[in-house]
Amino acid sequence: MSKDQQHLGPAWFAYIRDHTTRDDEFLVRLRREAQLAGLPPIAIQPEQGALLGVLLRLAGAREVVEVGTLGAYSAIWMARALPEDGRVRSIEIDPEHANFAEHWLARSDVAGMVEVHRGDAAVVLRRFADDSADAAFIDADKAGYPGYLRECLRIVRVGGLIAVDNALAFGQLLDPNPTDPDVPHVRAFNELVPAQDALTAVIVPLGDGMWVGVRRR
Ligand SMILES: C[S@@+](CC[C@H](N)C(=O)[O-])C[C@H]1O[C@@H](n2cnc3c(N)ncnc32)[C@H](O)[C@@H]1O
Repeated sequence: MSKDQQHLGPAWFAYIRDHTTRDDEFLVRLRREAQLAGLPPIAIQPEQGALLGVLLRLAGAREVVEVGTLGAYSAIWMARALPEDGRVRSIEIDPEHANFAEHWLARSDVAGMVEVHRGDAAVVLRRFADDSADAAFIDADKAGYPGYLRECLRIVRVGGLIAVDNALAFGQLLDPNPTDPDVPHVRAFNELVPAQDALTAVIVPLGDGMWVGVRRR
């Protein structure tokens, strides 16, 4: 039986990052351009992109729903894991983020595979049909997570993947006096996930922690 990995610290995570499939030149440039354009630096980490890529390939995913596009960094990682006729429907409420994402998606190797749906995910998700996706990735406003999960459990087919970012609440999950107002939302969501009969899920401690789950019924 393996032991708890209590020795893992920053140097270990740096090692893991250095030995994981990395961003190519386009993604490195995308991150830099997003910063120059003033987008907040809240995209997932490269090793989380690689994790999503592995999981989507294993799931044989063709249709993916994303909540929270930002600059399309994660959308590109995911689209690259799909077959040529695959599609990512990515939802973004901020017009400037959506504009940036569409500009760079059009110049990417997955042009035409990612649709940016503008608007509040709470509204847009309702338009997506039952069982119309093989996977979903939730990475937006934390207060909305319970509703997004409920919708994604309807939209993602049985056996499909549901991933959710920020399970470690920006590093403040266990802090007795957290400063980020979203920490209580993340804590509440982390209690909600294991109580879902329809989901088998685990927190993977990469980036800010990513829930990875499979819809089981
Ligand atoms: C953490 S960023 C997404 C990062 C992106 N998934 C990536 O890794 O490249 C969260 C995004 O969700 C968007 N957002 C926040 N609330 C939203 C809502 N209610 N509906 C849709 N998008 C929302 C924000 O504008 C922001 O662009």
